[in-house]
Amino acid sequence: MSGAPVAPHPGSAQKSPTTPAETIFEARGVNLRFGGVHALTDVSFGIRKGELFSIIGPNGAGKTSMVNCISGRYRPTDGKVFFKGRDVTGTTPNHRAALGIGRTFQNLALFGHMSVLDNIMVGRHHLLKNNFLTGPLYWLTGARKEELAHRREVEEIIDFLEIQHVRKATAGTLSYGLRKRVELARAIALKPDLILLDEPMAGMNLEEKEDMARYIVDLNEEFGMTVVMIEHDMGVVMDISHRVMVLEFGKKIAEGKPEEVLADPRVRRAYLGEDDVEDDVPSASSPPARKEVA
Ligand SMILES: Nc1ncnc2c1ncn2[C@@H]1O[C@H](COP(=O)(O)OP(=O)(O)OP(=O)(O)O)[C@@H](O)[C@H]1O
Ligand SMILES: [Mg+2]
Repeated sequence: MSGAPVAPHPGSAQKSPTTPAETIFEARGVNLRFGGVHALTDVSFGIRKGELFSIIGPNGAGKTSMVNCISGRYRPTDGKVFFKGRDVTGTTPNHRAALGIGRTFQNLALFGHMSVLDNIMVGRHHLLKNNFLTGPLYWLTGARKEELAHRREVEEIIDFLEIQHVRKATAGTLSYGLRKRVELARAIALKPDLILLDEPMAGMNLEEKEDMARYIVDLNEEFGMTVVMIEHDMGVVMDISHRVMVLEFGKKIAEGKPEEVLADPRVRRAYLGEDDVEDDVPSASSPPARKEVA
């Protein structure tokens, strides 16, 4: 649980199973202020390629702010962020999307009047090579072929998330749980290497949560996407995360494997609301099983 920044890339000379996984994203000393509000104070951490990394903390702790600094929506007042070893601190969200960062929002951001299919196609916009200039030459430039290929991939995502039955429905008419799933589909359609999920299970019932947790694990394990998830449901977080970072009042108070974080006295005091925690709290009674990232 150190605050030390992680090197952008480990040495490539001796790759072996014991070599630490490559760092896909790194925050170095990130500060974010809104007038007098210190949303983030000196936050440093690294996310390894292939990891399911969760950010937890009480309301207003700075979780969404941190995700916004990763996606480029917010620019740190101070500090730097690196993606795939390159400094992206000053780049726009569009640029970062093109580099491979995708996201969903804490509050749904779907086009309610559009169909599910069209909402997902929007996610693929930046992948289209043809544009409004080449569009008129639809049959000559390969635009038609390209669109067909896109549709095929979108259909695969629709199958994966089991939303075939609503593919033509107007997004705004769907249940909340289904809309969250469509939003995830749109984020996946961007084919990101790093996907940021801000409370993907908020407002869902137990069954919907279980489904969503399964999709997220599959996304991580089968699609190979690195996942950053903000989630308040500690059970889910501890169950599916490889590592967890805890924020409180904009500061990182812990980072590590779920069982390490759960056992951390500061976390128990600050986040779990335990007042009388001894500093030598033993490990969580039933640490969750989760595969290691290679
Ligand atoms: N655009 C903004 N303008 C002003 N203050 C902001 C802005 N965004 C966030 N903040 C402030 O920064 C702090 C952290 O907010 P943030 O939304 O990152 O918290 P959070 O951990 O995501 O909380 P929650 O669990 O409620 O979603 C809060 O005090 C919030 O009011
Ligand atoms: Mg938030």
